[in-house]
Amino acid sequence: MIEKVAEVILKSRHLIALTGAGISAESGIPTFRGPKGLWKRYRPEDLATPEAFARNPKLVWEWYAWRINLVLNAKPNPAHYALAELEKMNLLKMLITQNVDDLHERAGSKKIVHLHGEILKVVCTRCEYEARLNAPPKEIPPKCPVCQALLRPGVVWFGEPIPPAALSLAFSEAEMADVILVVGTSGVVMPAGQIPYIVKSHGDIVIEINIQESAITPIADFFIKGRAGEILPRIVDEIKRKIGCF
Ligand code: OAD
Repeated sequence: MIEKVAEVILKSRHLIALTGAGISAESGIPTFRGPKGLWKRYRPEDLATPEAFARNPKLVWEWYAWRINLVLNAKPNPAHYALAELEKMNLLKMLITQNVDDLHERAGSKKIVHLHGEILKVVCTRCEYEARLNAPPKEIPPKCPVCQALLRPGVVWFGEPIPPAALSLAFSEAEMADVILVVGTSGVVMPAGQIPYIVKSHGDIVIEINIQESAITPIADFFIKGRAGEILPRIVDEIKRKIGCF
């Protein structure tokens, strides 16, 4: 299967990837669903909605400060590096991620769309102020240095639209793609979960890597069951072997 997938990737004209929390699991960042997922321990409606933030910004910010700390202390794993390498080889044309961490960037990926925003960004709830964090905010909830209104995490919460520029880029990439690599996502959150279905709808190829079946598996042409940090580097090695890079 790895060899066939490597061949499909090598022959692709416009390969894109869709990643989810599973790709960062091996870096120690918890996923959302499954027995150890965040949504087993916390309720999204208490922590990840505009209503929750309006009700209790301190509680929401405490949860985000904990997650910001996790991200800042995590390191990219071999799966992140393998995708960055596919981009450098000019095989991967766009990486669409649902993840709010920056591990793809730290591994070297450049062509990347964050559909659900970025946890290391803060934005003002009133003015245009935005900033990047390199530590959790000292004051919780943090205030805007310009207008003193509350700052909020730069992520997309349940019930909020995806930033239009990110969504239209992701959808136009899905229209252009002839192969999509879907890694570590349950595929149940829309509109991200639609992206592989768009690729499939124009007769193109869906490759999935996951430790278990997901909502994408029924349309996958290739389903490789296993950890992203093990499978993706094997695919990259096979591609290198085929092009005589070893
Ligand atoms: P989920 O937690 O729903 O799914 C994670 C997927 O990763 C599951 O299908 C796991 O089987 C798989 N997985 C776990 N470890 C893996 C590994 N080492 N290698 C490969 N696969 C592995 O996470 P997402 O699909 O990313 O949204 O969730 C989508 C969205 O739901 C998130 O972006 C977040 C959440 O609510 C918002 O916060 C808006």
